[in-house]
Amino acid sequence: MKYSHFFTLGTHRGISWAEVLEVFKLEAESTQRLDSFLLASLKNTAQLDLLFNRLAGAVKMGEIISVASEASEVAKIIVRYLEQEKFNPKAVVINVHHSKLSPRDIRMRVKEQFGGGLKFLGDMKKPSYNSATTAKALRKEGIELLIFGDAEHIYIGRTLYVQDISLWSALDYEKPHRDMKIGMLPSKLARIMLNLAGLKPDDGFWDPFCGLGTLLMQGQFLDLYSYGSDIDVNTLRMARENVEWLLKRGYVKRLKFRVFKYDIRKDPMSNKILRDIAGRGKFNAIVTEGYLGKPRTKPFSTKRQVLAQWVQVRPLYKVFLRHVSYLIDPGARVVFVVPRYRLKGSNGWYAPKLEINFKRWKPVRFNTGPLIWQHSDSIVARELVVVEKRG
Ligand SMILES: C[S@@+](CC[C@H](N)C(=O)[O-])C[C@H]1O[C@@H](n2cnc3c(N)ncnc32)[C@H](O)[C@@H]1O
Repeated sequence: MKYSHFFTLGTHRGISWAEVLEVFKLEAESTQRLDSFLLASLKNTAQLDLLFNRLAGAVKMGEIISVASEASEVAKIIVRYLEQEKFNPKAVVINVHHSKLSPRDIRMRVKEQFGGGLKFLGDMKKPSYNSATTAKALRKEGIELLIFGDAEHIYIGRTLYVQDISLWSALDYEKPHRDMKIGMLPSKLARIMLNLAGLKPDDGFWDPFCGLGTLLMQGQFLDLYSYGSDIDVNTLRMARENVEWLLKRGYVKRLKFRVFKYDIRKDPMSNKILRDIAGRGKFNAIVTEGYLGKPRTKPFSTKRQVLAQWVQVRPLYKVFLRHVSYLIDPGARVVFVVPRYRLKGSNGWYAPKLEINFKRWKPVRFNTGPLIWQHSDSIVARELVVVEKRG
């Protein structure tokens, strides 16, 4: 069997796929994406749960138990598998995501052919993307089988781990300080950005536009020294309180972070705190959202308006890249967000061009498609750029 495991990816597939590659140390070419499913062959299966828990963009992960070529074989394979396994027959989810198979039909056949009384959880009629049902089945020592594939293959997978959606929702909506005006970096995107920075536990990163501290909060879950600066002291106070809230809530056992005031336009060498942290080798990556421009409630009407906005923002990006390069070693990554602005009318989006000095920075490519985070109602979408400092 070519693939040993599968992941189900959330809505931002290119970014989520790249995150899996970075965390599981895989190349895009050795994996295959079929819609929201990602197939991979994992040689090392130690501590899969820990690695899965680092991810933000994958909703589930599991093992491939069989591959069928004919739709008629599937029910028989499932029954054979269930007969061998120990699980609670009162909590079974069979989740069919393949055009050749009807969810209802598969469940009926499995029920008929399996000796004891199986109790299915979830919707009978259609494939379910609802991870709450999966979590319930796993909690009750039940089982979820997922059926998906392409024209030639029907993969049958068993879910091993499922994301804790209530934690992610609390991180975005229950933290002490949230401000729609400053613009909210989604916690999941912040986690993905840190994962794409290629850091390991105990490394450090710096967010020079830390705002309310979303990246610093995520850094705590990954056991990273998280340094954040901002031009605005009031924002820094809120960032500190947001990070401290993680400890009060019991989400983490200890905190490793520091916030300080710094204007990115100032010479970083003139700042004692920066010199000190860089001197201790703690800036292993720079991860930041940056300033995306004045928050808006409506799309831009004309390209000219967007350019007027971009002219305000662009100099900060240029100076940011120049200044952070003084503080990190060759090979260290910079992960940052570039805005894409929505334009009214049929032409959709405007993605401003950012001049990057490629003599100093090497682009890091994941080959998983554009690294864009956007929703159908986004006015400003976020595109991730990942570069590495050249030697
Ligand atoms: C889009 S917000 C970042 C939001 C942040 N990612 C969060 O999670 O809350 C941009 C931040 O850049 C800061 N900023 C703007 N100009 C700056 C400058 N010259 N130097 C440092 N920070 C600056 C603003 O105060 C603001 O907090």
